[in-house]
Amino acid sequence: MMSVSEAVRARRSTRAFIDKPVSANLLRSILEAAARSPSGGNLQPWNVYVMVGDDLAELKKKTLDNLKGAREGGEFKVYPDQLPDTFNARRKKNGEDLYASIKVPREDKAGRLQQFARNYEFFGAPVGLIFAIDRCFDKPQWVHLGMFIQTVMLLAEEAGLGTCAQEAWSAWPKTVSAHLGLPPNLVVYCGMSLGYADLAHPINNFTTDRVPVEEFTTFRGF
Ligand SMILES: Cc1cc2nc3c(=O)[nH]c(=O)nc-3n(C[C@H](O)[C@H](O)[C@H](O)COP(=O)(O)O)c2cc1C
Repeated sequence: MMSVSEAVRARRSTRAFIDKPVSANLLRSILEAAARSPSGGNLQPWNVYVMVGDDLAELKKKTLDNLKGAREGGEFKVYPDQLPDTFNARRKKNGEDLYASIKVPREDKAGRLQQFARNYEFFGAPVGLIFAIDRCFDKPQWVHLGMFIQTVMLLAEEAGLGTCAQEAWSAWPKTVSAHLGLPPNLVVYCGMSLGYADLAHPINNFTTDRVPVEEFTTFRGF
């Protein structure tokens, strides 16, 4: 079995999948284990919606249809309006690496948009998840939801599955909420594509950068 560090190192965002279903039992066992994630006060502020088959197809169709019209607008900002240069550079590089992997050049706006729209097909994954959180919660509980999401991704990795977390889904809160019948107290944070990775696809074969430990850590008293 994979060690935690092997799962951490092996995980990468998977944006192409093979046509192989994921069993309900496996999905349930991943979520059951992920529920062991820590949360302040043990509030466990996560809500997960797991879609396959016709239900998944319906949400994809509704959202792809929406792309032809006016944007709904998200309920929160995924990025600040003014990203400081350091972060802007990282974001840009990430986009460049992604599009280079599938040979979409910088000037090919239509090609980039087409690839971005794949978000709303859950990148062809057999399973789509939506993570939602109660509106009463502030930053701390959103962090706890994030810990839960990362645990889901690592457990999926251990089970031989690929994942891609997708804040792109937060751009269509009305569509997603209506489709899932979300109670009004829940806000959609993000989605996740999940399935068996298409390992031969170039989009799954580039490695994203990371800044070195020294850049984000201050060691003191050693
Ligand atoms: C919460 C969250 C939301 C994300 N949203 C998207 C998304 O909407 N679309 C996408 O293609 N990638 C998305 N990503 C993937 C990031 O781009 C990716 O994690 C980052 O570039 C690092 O690459 P890696 O996951 O392959 O290590 C998201 C990641 C996280 C953690």
